[in-house]
Amino acid sequence: MDAVNDAANHTAEPVPGQPGGNRLYPRVTSFRARRGAVSPARQDAWDRVWPRIGKDVSDEKLDADAWFGRSAPLIIEIGCGTGTATAAMAQAEPQFNLIGIEVYKPGLAQLVQRVEREGIENIRLLRGDAVDVLENMIAPESLTGVRVFFPDPWPKARHHKRRLLQPETFALIATRLIPGGVLHVATDHADYAEWIALYGNAEPQLIGMNEPTGGDPEAYRTKAPIGFERPITKFENKGLRAGSAITEFIWGKIES
Ligand SMILES: C[S@@+](CC[C@H](N)C(=O)[O-])C[C@H]1O[C@@H](n2cnc3c(N)ncnc32)[C@H](O)[C@@H]1O
Repeated sequence: MDAVNDAANHTAEPVPGQPGGNRLYPRVTSFRARRGAVSPARQDAWDRVWPRIGKDVSDEKLDADAWFGRSAPLIIEIGCGTGTATAAMAQAEPQFNLIGIEVYKPGLAQLVQRVEREGIENIRLLRGDAVDVLENMIAPESLTGVRVFFPDPWPKARHHKRRLLQPETFALIATRLIPGGVLHVATDHADYAEWIALYGNAEPQLIGMNEPTGGDPEAYRTKAPIGFERPITKFENKGLRAGSAITEFIWGKIES
């Protein structure tokens, strides 16, 4: 059996919207089904907090202002993992509404527990495939920022089709950004970095705002609607210990 044939893996918990979930789903996905336990304390926090701050991915259009209970610029983070960076950014950026999207429940449960413990008000979470979220739940020109920190690199050539950041994904993300909105990507994988530069820089709706995207960050840093800085993520911490070089990509949605 192909180790990445998610549809055949019946041992992992179904992902909303995926095979074994609640509808037929033919697309190759950027994630593999993973098993992982949620501790009783995290499950308790989940049961208390998820109904208010979390939703399974669906076809329903998202009314973010109603969900957050306030109107504020909206940022999504794709593949937020255990949410180390998500929580830190939400606390540093109380002026933004942040949505973390992740397929892996144990990661989300860790973040849910932290949100409750630290009383973080400006995070909401979606469980499922971020491509579905962008296609079906998010309106065009409604996002001030999109963050993708350390997407799975799928290093083998035969798995490159599973990489999240395909030309189509760049185009989709760009349509969801407001004019001037920012796409921030980081990777520690040299080959994926080349791929991201190639396809991201080829997307006509995006302009480069830092060196790897062919732009001058000083020309944009003060005008951009979100900051270009970010805290270290959990995954990155592992990579830094292993000595990997990290590439940051910042693009802006064209304003014409
Ligand atoms: C390498 S981890 C990085 C996690 C986190 N950003 C960090 O830096 O610690 C990539 C994460 O993306 C998630 N992921 C991959 N494809 C996804 C998709 N299409 N929608 C939502 N999450 C996805 C995976 O489940 C995984 O948790």
